[in-house]
Amino acid sequence: MSEIRAVITGIGGYVPDYALTNKELETMVDTNDDWITSRTGIKERRILKGKDQGTSVMATKAVEELLRKTRTSPEQIDLIICATTTPDMIFPATANLVADNIGAKHSFGFDLQAACSGFLYGLVTGAQFIEAGTYRKVVVIGADKMSSIIDYQDRTTCIIFGDGAGAVLLEPTQEPYGLRDSHLRSDGSGAPHLHLKAGGSRRPATVETVTAREHFVYQEGAAVFKYAVKHMADVSADIMKRNQLHAEDIDWLVPHQANKRIIDATAERMGIGYDKVMYTIHKYGNTTSGTIPLCLWDYESKLKKGDNLIMAAFGGGFTWGATYVIWGYDGKAS
Ligand code: UT7
Repeated sequence: MSEIRAVITGIGGYVPDYALTNKELETMVDTNDDWITSRTGIKERRILKGKDQGTSVMATKAVEELLRKTRTSPEQIDLIICATTTPDMIFPATANLVADNIGAKHSFGFDLQAACSGFLYGLVTGAQFIEAGTYRKVVVIGADKMSSIIDYQDRTTCIIFGDGAGAVLLEPTQEPYGLRDSHLRSDGSGAPHLHLKAGGSRRPATVETVTAREHFVYQEGAAVFKYAVKHMADVSADIMKRNQLHAEDIDWLVPHQANKRIIDATAERMGIGYDKVMYTIHKYGNTTSGTIPLCLWDYESKLKKGDNLIMAAFGGGFTWGATYVIWGYDGKAS
């Protein structure tokens, strides 16, 4: 009997209605549309507005759509993994809040934090439970409300990030589809270049930390850029090599959307044309854990059963990785 693999059988997504445009950012910080567009590829990003609206609001909407499209009842779900860097609260896990919102009464769940690589880490983790035969329906969410940790007085970060959520359903298959290979990496020595200074156990919130604006993303952009280009391209090329995939075998690169220049460099290293690359950065910016599932959500109608996908990410930690997935269904699940 052939081995059990985890295949993506549906995708749901959600982005808030409010679009923060480059033009509006020009009124907030010393920047301009030309600079942002040429350096990042971003034109606008979505922002979740409203009091007490956390990441779980977006994640819940994404999962509700996923369940509707895959005709799955919440009681059938075994496990919910929520990849996020902006949980509603430090505890309990946002995955549990989502489970309660949707009525997933027989599931268990946990959050997973790997910054911009979170969705890939979640996908690989969820797949292990399917491949081991432990569970049959695993929901993997990538969701972040980045606007909650962005300093809208800092032009080097506020132009990049946005809010959004995507979710996939993983189920077992013995057909030749699904997650075929993954290569995940991390390197904690990258922490000084990209982190949140306060709010954790090392530096809990105080009046001083708030006054010093330490609860916002700190990023040394140019340094992170260098690592991102190298690692995302290396790991994508590596996963192609070890699966004997050539450029012409790749149907889609599904990259983390941090900067269009990083995405293009990865595609060039893989030898594939830009027409095989999923881009959402112009309209959603960098939604951290949300970027890869939101790409799948946006391009779902173009995907065909048997397509070879390379998903690749790089983010805070540092964390990075790539997965090789054979897509399991045609077009849009209704
Ligand atoms: O997703 C998680 C991982 N994160 C990433 O992958 C992000 C990687 N980094 C980047 O994408 C880029 O480094 C940024 C988009 C953040 C910055 O682009 P850059 O081309 O690396 O610019 P830079 O930081 O080297 O800054 C160049 C200049 C500086 O001015 P001076 O010192 O040359 O006078 C900045 O102060 O651009 C200035 N600058 C801006 N100018 C207008 C920085 N931000 C802005 C801005 N508008 N928003």
